[in-house]
Amino acid sequence: MRLIEALDYQDMSRKAARFILDQVKEKPDCVLGLATGSTPIGLYEQLIEWHKKGELDFSRVTSFNLDEYCGLAPEHEQSYHFFMNEKLFRHVNFESSHVPSGLAEDAELCADYDRQIADRGGIDLQLLGLGHTGHIAFNEPGDSFSTGTHKVALAEETIEANSRFFESRDEVPRFAVTMGIGTIMAARKILLVVNGTGKAEILKKALFGPVTPQVPASILQFHPDVVIVADTDALSAIRQEGLF
Ligand code: GLP
Repeated sequence: MRLIEALDYQDMSRKAARFILDQVKEKPDCVLGLATGSTPIGLYEQLIEWHKKGELDFSRVTSFNLDEYCGLAPEHEQSYHFFMNEKLFRHVNFESSHVPSGLAEDAELCADYDRQIADRGGIDLQLLGLGHTGHIAFNEPGDSFSTGTHKVALAEETIEANSRFFESRDEVPRFAVTMGIGTIMAARKILLVVNGTGKAEILKKALFGPVTPQVPASILQFHPDVVIVADTDALSAIRQEGLF
C-alpha cells in the first residue's frame, strides 16, 4: 500500500491522473476501470487537458465503469452513463468504454459484464473513490464481501449523500448495479482517490482498521498493488494518530 499526500483537491487530481497517464504510456492497449462521484472529476479534467495537448492517446484503451443506478436510462442526467459521457468520454478517444446497464438487474446480464472484462484480459488499473459508508463502487457495508457484478440496495447514508445530485431525495434510486469486491480486487493495480475532512475518519478505518465487510474498502489492505492519493484534509485523522 502506497499512501501519497496531496496538498489539496487540485494537487490530488493531478498526482492521481499521472498514474493513469503512466499506465496508458506503459501499455497503450490497457484496460482501465473508471469511477464516478465528485472526487475523480478534477482527475478527468486533467486527463482531458493532456489529451487535447496530444500527450495522452486513449485510442487503444478500453474502459469499464464500476457501477450504475438501477432504473435510469443512459440518457438520464443523473445516470452514471451520462456523467461519464459529460465528464470524460465525449472529450477523449477511448477505443471502447463500458458502463454497466442500469436496466441489467438480472444475474445473467451482470455475469456478462464480468465476462466482458475477463475477455478483455482483466483490468490493469482500477480507479476508486471512497463512499462515506466505506463503500467502494456501490458495495455497501454488509456481512460478507461480494464477488462479481451484482445488484445492491443502497444504504440510507448513500442515498442521503447522493441526493445532492437529484431534485429531491425521493428521486434517488434505491438500487444499483455494481462491480463486486471480487471484480475490483482482481484488478492488477488500484488507485484510490480521497479528499476532504468528511472522509478522514472512514479513510483511517479503511486503511488501518480491521479488514471487515462492515467497511468494504478495508479489503484493499489485502491487495498487492494499491496507491492511495489523498489530500491533507482526508489524511488528518490518520496523521492525528501518528499512522502517517
Ligand atoms: C458513489 C459512487 C462511488 C463513489 C462514491 C463517493 O456512491 N458509487 O463509486 O466513490 O459515490 O462519491 P464522492 O466522490 O462524490 O464523494
